[in-house]
Amino acid sequence: MPQTVQAVIARAKGAPVELVDIVIPDPGPGEAVVAVQACGVCHTDLHYREGGINDEFPFLLGHEAAGVVEAVGEGVTEVAPGDFVILNWRAVCGQCRACRKGKPHYCFATHNATQKMTLTDGTVLSPALGIGAFAEKTLVAAGQCTKVDPSADPAVVGLLGCGVMAGFGAAVNTGGVQRGDSIAVIGCGGVGNAAIAGAALVGATTIIAVDVDDRKLEQARHFGATHAINAIREDVVEGIRALTGGNGADVVVEAVGRPETYEQAFYARDLAGTVVLVGVPTPDKQVQLPMIEIFGRGGALKSSWYGDCLPSRDFPMLVDLYRQGRFDLGAFVTERIGIGDVEAAFAKMHHGDVLRSVVVMEG
Ligand SMILES: NC(=O)c1ccc[n+]([C@@H]2O[C@H](COP(=O)([O-])OP(=O)(O)OC[C@H]3O[C@@H](n4cnc5c(N)ncnc54)[C@H](O)[C@@H]3O)[C@@H](O)[C@H]2O)c1
Ligand SMILES: [Zn+2]
Ligand SMILES: [Zn+2]
Repeated sequence: MPQTVQAVIARAKGAPVELVDIVIPDPGPGEAVVAVQACGVCHTDLHYREGGINDEFPFLLGHEAAGVVEAVGEGVTEVAPGDFVILNWRAVCGQCRACRKGKPHYCFATHNATQKMTLTDGTVLSPALGIGAFAEKTLVAAGQCTKVDPSADPAVVGLLGCGVMAGFGAAVNTGGVQRGDSIAVIGCGGVGNAAIAGAALVGATTIIAVDVDDRKLEQARHFGATHAINAIREDVVEGIRALTGGNGADVVVEAVGRPETYEQAFYARDLAGTVVLVGVPTPDKQVQLPMIEIFGRGGALKSSWYGDCLPSRDFPMLVDLYRQGRFDLGAFVTERIGIGDVEAAFAKMHHGDVLRSVVVMEG
C-alpha cells in the first residue's frame, strides 16, 4: 500500500519551504523504501530552492541522509529490510561509457527510483539529487543505499551522503593530494572543511584555509588547517603564495562556486598545480581567463562531482576512520533540528552560523 508521510518541499522558486504530506509508492523492482533517521542541510538544497539547479518544481529537498531500509522491491539483493544505510546519489549503472571504461566514479547513468513520489493531489515531486530525504520515508533505487556499521550515529554519518564526501574527495580523489603536498581551500563550509580534513588525513603539510568568516577559519584549524586567510582582510592569492615559498599551492580547492573565488584558485596554485572546482556555480556565472596563463601555468583545471567517490568503497572506509577517532566527522554537526526547521537552517547557513544543521527524525 502506498504510504503518506511528512516531508519538506520547495514549491516554487525562492518561496519558503513547506512541510506537507507526500505519497510514497511501494518499492518496485530495484527500489527500496528507507525510513530516514537523519538528513543534513546542504547548500545544494538551497540552490534547488533558489531555482539554481533546474526548474522542475516542486522539489522534495534533502539528500545527505542515513536511515533504515524498510522494504525492498522485486529482485533487490544488495540490501534488505533492517539494514542501516547511508543514501548516495551515485548508484553506478555498470553499463554506461564511463563505467565500461573502468571509471564508475564518473558514471553518467546513475540509478534513481523509477516510480515517482507525489503530493496527495498526485503532483509529481522531483527529489533533490534523486533522494528527497527531509522526509519520514523516501523511495530510492536500491543501489542508492550503502550499508555501513549500524552502531554509527545517523546524524553524523549521514553527512557522508553529500557534502563531507564531496569535500573530502575533492581534495583526495580529484585533487590527488598526498603527503608533503600544499593545499589551499577557498570556502570553508561543510564541503571546504571536509577537504581540509581529507588533506590532513593523507599528510598534506601546508593546509591553507580561506574564508570570509573567522568562525569558519577557526573550525578549519580544528580539522587540520595549518594556516588561515580571511579573504576580507587579506589578498588571497598573495597570501597563499607567501605561505608556499612564493610559488602557490600544489592543489587549490574552490568550494564556493563563484567566479572571483575560482580566479583566486587559478592564480594561487603552483606551476603544474591542480585547481579543483567543487563549489556549484549558478548558470549565470562566467569566468574570463587569459589563455596564455592557462597554457603557461600548465597543470590541471578539474571539476569534482561528489568528490569522485564510489559510495560502496568510500562510505564504509570513512565510517571506520570516524569510529577509530581519526576523522572528526562529528564536528561537522553544528546543530540537530526538527523536520519543520529547514527554512530556519537555510537562514543560519546563509549567515554562516553553521557547518551543518542536521534534521533528526522523531521516533
Ligand atoms: N560538487 C559537488 O559534488 C558538491 C556537493 C555538495 C555541495 N557542493 C557545493 O559546494 C559549495 C559549498 O557547499 P557548503 O555546503 O559547504 O556551503 P556553505 O554555505 O556551508 O559554505 C560556503 C562557505 O564559503 C564561504 N564563502 C563565501 N564567499 C566567500 C568568498 N568570497 N571567499 C571565501 N569564502 C567564501 C562562506 O563563508 C562559507 O563558509 C556549494 O556551492 C555547494 O552547492 C558541491
Ligand atoms: Zn555508469
Ligand atoms: Zn549536497
